[in-house]
Amino acid sequence: LQQEATDKIQQASEPKELQAIKVAYLGKKGSVTKVLKGMGKLSKEERPVIGEMANQVRSAITEAIEKKQEALETALLAEKLEKEAIDVTLPGRPVRNGGAHLLTTIMEEIEDMFIGMGFEVREGPQVETDYFNFEALNLPKNHPARDMQDSFYITNELLLRTQTSPVQARTMQAYGGDKPIRMICPGIVYRRDTDDATHSHQFTQIEGLFVDKNVRMSDLKGVLNVFAKKMFGEDREIRLRPSFFPFTEPSVEMDISCKVCGGHGCSVCKGTGWIEILGAGMVHPNVLEMSGYDPDVYSGFAFGMGPERIAMLKYGVNDIRQFYTNDKRFLKQYHQA
Ligand code: PHE
Repeated sequence: LQQEATDKIQQASEPKELQAIKVAYLGKKGSVTKVLKGMGKLSKEERPVIGEMANQVRSAITEAIEKKQEALETALLAEKLEKEAIDVTLPGRPVRNGGAHLLTTIMEEIEDMFIGMGFEVREGPQVETDYFNFEALNLPKNHPARDMQDSFYITNELLLRTQTSPVQARTMQAYGGDKPIRMICPGIVYRRDTDDATHSHQFTQIEGLFVDKNVRMSDLKGVLNVFAKKMFGEDREIRLRPSFFPFTEPSVEMDISCKVCGGHGCSVCKGTGWIEILGAGMVHPNVLEMSGYDPDVYSGFAFGMGPERIAMLKYGVNDIRQFYTNDKRFLKQYHQA
């Protein structure tokens, strides 16, 4: 009986099997238990002999089970450790990082350049009053130049701003008419345009305003020159062309020399040698006056640019809609490591 039991115990490969063996031999109805229970039927002489034997068998089996149990547990633990082991020498899986949108990157770059020249960054509301978007900028009601910017009106007096220029007027009013101003204002603007490769009904602008005593056109040119070279390269030239904006007088448009032809004319600049990048001018005396600055004491310059256009020129993006359709293949190219 003992031999039979220990053989079975040795063969057991799972704790469950061991448990079954334990029940079969030592349980209430187990074979060893039966022998012990049957002791009463034995003769006086047989009893101690058989009793001792049975007890020996019982403890031998118990011990064998305990040993096997321990061995099984050790094996199981070893197996588990093996399975769950981590190979620290395996190459790591790349973490997928997000990244800033190209437009965000460009706008922050532009902001940093002007902050470096002492400008502060200000913001204004996207839902603007007709007064700030037009009137305070020398565009009275029915002024024909309002047609230059097809607008989304919300009510008679409220519209989605068509430009960041209203922040000029807001800033001058906030400054109170007797302090110099150096500010840029980045933000989203809206125009009633049909979207195509170069038009979007929503886009961004960065406006700049510099007001002080004796500010001259040469100051404007100097600041814009620094900006153009920092943004597009030291080898770029700038050129100012006469233009028109109701809130600046004189008004200019700024071109940078084309890198491809070095300013001599090619397909990129359509043969002109120059690429237009922004509008600017000396703040119109009416605009200064309406917002509380005395045009006989103060003068200023302002400029406005489109970060999409800057990014398109800098990175060769040929469709403005790329900025707004969220094609990850496009956006990922400009993520910085
Ligand atoms: N607000 C003008 C535009 O949207 C740009 C501009 C800003 C021109 C400031 C001159 C001065 O076209």
